[in-house]
Amino acid sequence: MSGYVLAIDQGTTSTRAIVFDDGFRIKGVAQQEFAQHFPRSGWVEHDPEEIWGSVVATVRGALADASLSASDVAAIGITNQRETVVLWDRETGKPIHNAIVWQDRRTSDVCRRLVADGAEPAITEKTGLIVDPYFSGTKIAWMLDHVDGAREKAEAGKLAFGTIDSFLLARLTGGKVHSTDATNASRTMLFDISANDWDDDLLKLLAVPRAILPEVMDCDADFGVTDASLFGAAIRVLGIAGDQHAATLGQACFAPGMLKSTYGTGCFAVLNTGGERVASNNRLLTTIAYRLAGKTSFALEGSIFIAGAAVQWLRDGLKLIDKADVSGRLAAGADPEQDVYLVPAFTGLGAPWWDAEARGAIYGLTRRTGPEEFARAALEAVCYQTADLLNAMKKDWPAAADTVLRVDGGMVASDWTMQCLADLLDAPVDRPVVLETTALGAAWLAGQKAGVWPDADGFAARWRLERQFTPQMDAVTRGGKLTGWADAVRRTLTR
Ligand code: G3P
Repeated sequence: MSGYVLAIDQGTTSTRAIVFDDGFRIKGVAQQEFAQHFPRSGWVEHDPEEIWGSVVATVRGALADASLSASDVAAIGITNQRETVVLWDRETGKPIHNAIVWQDRRTSDVCRRLVADGAEPAITEKTGLIVDPYFSGTKIAWMLDHVDGAREKAEAGKLAFGTIDSFLLARLTGGKVHSTDATNASRTMLFDISANDWDDDLLKLLAVPRAILPEVMDCDADFGVTDASLFGAAIRVLGIAGDQHAATLGQACFAPGMLKSTYGTGCFAVLNTGGERVASNNRLLTTIAYRLAGKTSFALEGSIFIAGAAVQWLRDGLKLIDKADVSGRLAAGADPEQDVYLVPAFTGLGAPWWDAEARGAIYGLTRRTGPEEFARAALEAVCYQTADLLNAMKKDWPAAADTVLRVDGGMVASDWTMQCLADLLDAPVDRPVVLETTALGAAWLAGQKAGVWPDADGFAARWRLERQFTPQMDAVTRGGKLTGWADAVRRTLTR
């Protein structure tokens, strides 16, 4: 059998399909952006049909780019933006509403009420999560209550719920399979991560009928085969993981204590804690890192909602730059005498603050402030937030103190930003040769399950460092900058 594996990486702003060979080299790639819908302030939606169309087009595009046909591919791995909710009619396969995206804040009232009613400790105990509109549960209930007849249909077993992976799997298999994997399930606020099952008390609390839920599988499992009419031959789907979990695998963070941070639309730091489920006292999430062959590895996760999106804002909102990759160069020319801080709470603040109502703010402007200082403030904000996450992780799990951060995602191509990160963390930062770690992780799941790629040890042995950034900043400068950031955040929080 060939060693070609195809990864579908369905992200928040674009869909990518990548064919890897058994040397983990990219043989073919295709990418397609899709529309973001903002029907009201704080609401974010995607059209599931447009997402599906982008998946079909990019898979075909990647195969063409690799000069391969479907029968050359050993298996497919799927990775996806997490928490985003799709509900569809089981008979027709048609979604009943636009997908409600993870960034969407429309259920913040419901979440506030859950916290006020004292429900949070029990929810955290079972799911490892904080009560926040970020997660799927309250979004599912919103859709059931706002689409005509949806609740009755759901209770009668006529509707299906899925995160994006599950919706795509249903479509890819011609409607035959309704499954998800443990990592995606762990982000719904309905899944008990210790019992490894949907939880009836949570389903009742959030008014979600069990009849709509997918079956939860390991990340490497036999998820079914694609309908042969889609790509010319049936391909087995043998891997699924949420994108941050796939990136953890793609970075070969298999050992407890290993840590990765991915800088995409948002930034998500994931610390592998192995078989140990570590509860956070510092507002981090406890989540399933991955579940392989029935064995769960846990993680502490810090989730920041705005990272690359801050650079997009410089480009599309402020129109200060015309291409995202010039932001580092611009920031390098900023005036060191100016202390400008951007708190990018555009869709609230995630970990460790969890303030859904906070909105973005900028401090320290003078008449000399220009595009350079804005660019530096946007990039530094991402680094300061990572520092907040790492500090919380070290408090929660002292074993994390000596770990070296592995980074990936679009923003890490900027040397300036990575140096800034090492300086503000006062710790080394490792950038690997392969930056497509999310897709690679999904491909690894499928490739090793198909028996054409190495196991975890063999894969980890082939992880390669491209460059290590080591801290260069003196302690006084760093201390001053971190104090200024903490003050800016304090002024931005609503409670
Ligand atoms: O939890 C949301 C996350 O999975 C989205 O990732 O890369 O699309 O920003 P990304």
